[in-house]
Amino acid sequence: MHITSSAADVTSLVDCAQIPGLGFLPINAFVLHAEQPVLVDTGQPASSADFLDALWSQVDPDDLRWVYLTHPDRDHTGSLAEVLAAAPSARLVTTFLGMGILSIEYEIAPDRVFRLNPGQSLDVGDRRLRAFRPPLYDSPATTGFWDERTGTCFSSDCFGAPMSDPDLVRADDITAVPAGDLEAAQRMWATVDSPWITGVDRSAFEASLDPLRRLDPPVLLSTPPARRAVHRLLDTLAAAPDAPPFIGPDQAALDALLSGFTPGQGESQRAAAG
Ligand SMILES: [Fe+2]
Repeated sequence: MHITSSAADVTSLVDCAQIPGLGFLPINAFVLHAEQPVLVDTGQPASSADFLDALWSQVDPDDLRWVYLTHPDRDHTGSLAEVLAAAPSARLVTTFLGMGILSIEYEIAPDRVFRLNPGQSLDVGDRRLRAFRPPLYDSPATTGFWDERTGTCFSSDCFGAPMSDPDLVRADDITAVPAGDLEAAQRMWATVDSPWITGVDRSAFEASLDPLRRLDPPVLLSTPPARRAVHRLLDTLAAAPDAPPFIGPDQAALDALLSGFTPGQGESQRAAAG
């Protein structure tokens, strides 16, 4: 677990999952040091012990007030139960659908949940967090948000991209990734994580990018922090509908792939949940 300051009032808790043949997928959570501290997502289950150590080094459990879950995929809910158990004042922020999905696995008291829809804001004392639906998503419960005080945008999976090297996952800025590699990885991941992208009307999809273009956040958090780079990243996404659909390797191809794979390399060999 890598801990770093990534934006004003934001600490990133940086982890990754190695996906054979694709690379190292960043799995980031964030602590927003607002007057009412906010945890954004809770990491992957396999890293829970390290995640909790990192989290509680940044915020006292008694002070944590909000757990903003961008969506209930397992690489975002890894320590959710542990965090809610340790932080008695923390309320879970999700959507009606998010709560429904979570209820299949977890028992969470209704009064510990705050249901927030895209377009609505959450008051965290010294600022408001405005929820939105990112243009790419892999869950019907997905929301991102931006901090109305600093402009920092938390974009869930929207700009995800596997990195060729774990050091790039821990990079301080997205510019550390060679531009061509980033564009290829971002487009490829768009077809993996949001496979519907190859079947959408291109002009309608491009229109869905406009709100983020107008917002033009100074810092975009998803992969390594992107500063004043949202237009470039959106241009990459705009071409994603033309990318070839992702077809995962079948058993024979996977066997051939894994024959050249070194067990124990990196932080995980698990396929990402999304
Ligand atoms: Fe996801």
